[in-house]
Amino acid sequence: MFIVPELHNPEELDQIQDLEIRDTDVFVVTYPKSGTIWLQQILLLLQFKELHHSRVSTPQSDPPAVPLHAHRAQPQEGQGDLRGQKSKDVLVSFYHFQNAVKVLETDKSFDEVLERFLGGRVPGVGKNWFEHIKTWFSHKDDLNMLFITYEEMIQDLTSVIKKIADFLETELTQDQLQNVVKHSTFKNMKKIPQANYEQASKLMDKQQGSFMRKGTIGDWKNHFTVAQNERFDKIFAEEMKDFPVSFIWDET
Ligand code: A3P
Repeated sequence: MFIVPELHNPEELDQIQDLEIRDTDVFVVTYPKSGTIWLQQILLLLQFKELHHSRVSTPQSDPPAVPLHAHRAQPQEGQGDLRGQKSKDVLVSFYHFQNAVKVLETDKSFDEVLERFLGGRVPGVGKNWFEHIKTWFSHKDDLNMLFITYEEMIQDLTSVIKKIADFLETELTQDQLQNVVKHSTFKNMKKIPQANYEQASKLMDKQQGSFMRKGTIGDWKNHFTVAQNERFDKIFAEEMKDFPVSFIWDET
C-alpha cells in the first residue's frame, strides 16, 4: 500500500483494517492518474445533491462510500478497431505528478517514466496499466461494476453523470444534474483546495505543478517522441491482443 504520512494517520489505517463492507458500499477503482478525485467529487455531489452547492467540496480523508471503475481508455462493446493509446495520457499525467509530489521518487527523463509505467512501478498499484485493466475486466460478471473512461467524461460529462446516477439508482432532477455537472468541471474543481491537495503542503511542490494540472485528452502528443510512441503501440497491441472487447479512443 502507498501511505503518505501527510495525508494519512495511524488511526485511519486502523479503521480501514476493521472495515465492514456493506451491500450498499460503493468503491472507486482507478489506475492512478485516471480521474480518481474527479469521480470522488461526482459521487460526493450525488450523495449530497440536496445541499446547496457552495457547501460541497471534495474531502480527501472521508470519501463517500461509493464506486466505479475509471480508466483513461474505455472498453466499449461492439466497437471496431483497436486504434488508440489513451493510457499514454495517464503516463503523461503521472510524469508531471511525480515531478510535483515531493515524497515520490522523481525520474529525470520521460523515457525513465515510460519504463517505470510499463513495468508497473507506479505508487499504489504494483501492476502495470494493462494488467490492471485486464484483471478488473475479468471480474465484470461477478462484481457489479460500471466501467467509465476519462475520455467519455471529457466528451460528455452530463451523460456520464446521468449514467453513474442510474447505476447507483440515485434520482436526480434536471436542476440537481446540472448542479453536479457544474461543480465537477475542471475549471470549478481547480478552485477547490482539497481537490488540489492544498491541505498537504508538504506533499506538493507548487513550483513544479498542481494536482489539477491540465484536464484534457491528447496531451501525450506533446510528450512522446516518435520512437517512444512506436514502442508503446507495439507493447499495447501485444498486451491487449486477447482482450475480449475493443477500445475506442478519439484521435484528438
Ligand atoms: P492531468 O494531469 O492530465 O491534468 P487522479 O485523480 O486519478 O490522480 O487523476 C488526476 C487527473 O485527473 C489529472 O489529469 C487531473 O487534472 C484530472 N482531473 C481531475 N479532475 C478533473 C476534471 N474535473 N476534469 C478533467 N480532468 C480532471
